[in-house]
Amino acid sequence: MVIFRQFETLLKHLCYLKKTTNGLGFGFVPTMGALHEGHLSLIRASRRECGVTICSIFVNPAQFGDSNDLEEYPKPIEQDIELLVKNACDILFLPSVEEVYPVDYVNQCYDLNGLDLRFEGKSRPGHFQGVCNVIYRFLSLIKPDFAYFGQKDYQQTVVIKRLTEVAQLNTIIRVVPIVRESNGLAMSSRNVRLSASGRNKASFILEGLEILQKNFRVQGISKAIDLVSWHIASFEGAELDYLILADSTSLKEIRDEEHTDLVALIAVNYEGVHLLDNMILSQ
Ligand code: PAJ
Repeated sequence: MVIFRQFETLLKHLCYLKKTTNGLGFGFVPTMGALHEGHLSLIRASRRECGVTICSIFVNPAQFGDSNDLEEYPKPIEQDIELLVKNACDILFLPSVEEVYPVDYVNQCYDLNGLDLRFEGKSRPGHFQGVCNVIYRFLSLIKPDFAYFGQKDYQQTVVIKRLTEVAQLNTIIRVVPIVRESNGLAMSSRNVRLSASGRNKASFILEGLEILQKNFRVQGISKAIDLVSWHIASFEGAELDYLILADSTSLKEIRDEEHTDLVALIAVNYEGVHLLDNMILSQ
């Protein structure tokens, strides 16, 4: 695996690869590091589809509201490099903050059609604009054929697709299924903040989504949401932040059981950790 810290050298190398590899596709996997199986599934998806896989590790200050959160973000870089090498990633891009946001960089505000203000955006003002600023920098300069994002952060995938439209980026966005721990908890860098017993019990989030899936068409959306709320509330210390049925493309809240293309988005605060999950509701 080759490591680059500057756009200039990375782009030169990509230009060379393009010339010498006879049109192999370039796949890009943006991350903030502290890699786990969820991230690695994106690397593998890129490897299956593309000739060259580029992963970035960059803890993006623009998407953090709280500077403590940013400082405390785990940075196990040696371990991350080892995992990337094991998973046959071709290129790691490891830029500094100054490289991504030079002194003359002007923060952009994208027209995200309100997608950035809902759900996760409500409690984290500016978060999705921060995500868009860094992803625009990467996609517009690296120009990958494909970029891979996890379904785990469903709202983020919708925001990124909107960004590619409004900013006229040519990269195709791929969404990779959620990777879960053995008890069903969606993998996340935040899971290490749970106690061992909390991490075990946190299977109640996926159970909640399964209860919803099983009941919403028969009993109606409101009743099904009540059932899930009771299930979550029966676990001490768990607090349902939101549970929304939304159109899977527009993310507009839906109250009609017959609507096709529904996604259920859930966020639960448990042991002081904000846990996200979602489920595409089949017909
Ligand atoms: P990060 O939290 O490091 O996640 C990087 C990518 O891994 C995201 O696309 C995320 O959805 C995906 N991912 C995380 N957990 C997953 C899981 N359990 N299953 C499948 N995919 C999973 O998301 C970000 O970084 C940042 O916002 C970023 C897009 C890099 C912009 O800074």
